[in-house]
Amino acid sequence: MHADSWAIKAKKLGFRSRAVFKLEEILKKTKALKDKSLVLDIGCAPGGWSELIREMNSSSKIYAIDILNIKPIEGVLFFQEDVFNIDNIKEIYSLKSKFNLVISDLAPNLSGIKTVDEEKIFDLNILTLKIAKNYLNKSDGAIILKSFQNSLLKKFRTEMEKCFHLVQTYKPAASKSQSGEIYLFGDRPL
Ligand SMILES: C[S@@+](CC[C@H](N)C(=O)[O-])C[C@H]1O[C@@H](n2cnc3c(N)ncnc32)[C@H](O)[C@@H]1O
Repeated sequence: MHADSWAIKAKKLGFRSRAVFKLEEILKKTKALKDKSLVLDIGCAPGGWSELIREMNSSSKIYAIDILNIKPIEGVLFFQEDVFNIDNIKEIYSLKSKFNLVISDLAPNLSGIKTVDEEKIFDLNILTLKIAKNYLNKSDGAIILKSFQNSLLKKFRTEMEKCFHLVQTYKPAASKSQSGEIYLFGDRPL
């Protein structure tokens, strides 16, 4: 399907972003969303992924963060905050080691300078991994996060393999082929 067709489909189905189809494909393949899941959505605005989780499993409880504000979503507790300060959000901090699923579609502001941007993406990915280690349930936790195909991806994947029993890479159909974005799935923290 052409990239714009995903946007039209999202609008038709009442979703806030076309990004929902990327997450939907990965969730269906990995079966990472379970009943009554406690989900942490970081970099959530405008809220498409949180909406999708609620639609796929209404018993899920979602905590969501972004620097940008979002329109409220039923069943989603939203915090307008920089993810670097996540430990300062007491409602989330009190749930350390309890989340079943962390989803991160975080994307940094890009400078256009390749080496600088690759470092920014790597740093944000490492931060996401650290958050996952701290906040996921050890027995059945899983993470889905966005990264990019660049010279630091292999280094990041190696770091991720040190943290999870299983690591897989996904390029969903709804992800523009020229964007270079790629999604990593990590299952069961080590
Ligand atoms: C691609 S969008 C997420 C789209 C979302 N998954 C959806 O389906 O609607 C990436 C988001 O990451 C957020 N972001 C980037 N850096 C951040 C940070 N340090 N802390 C919190 N949010 C951040 C941006 O504000 C942006 O809203």
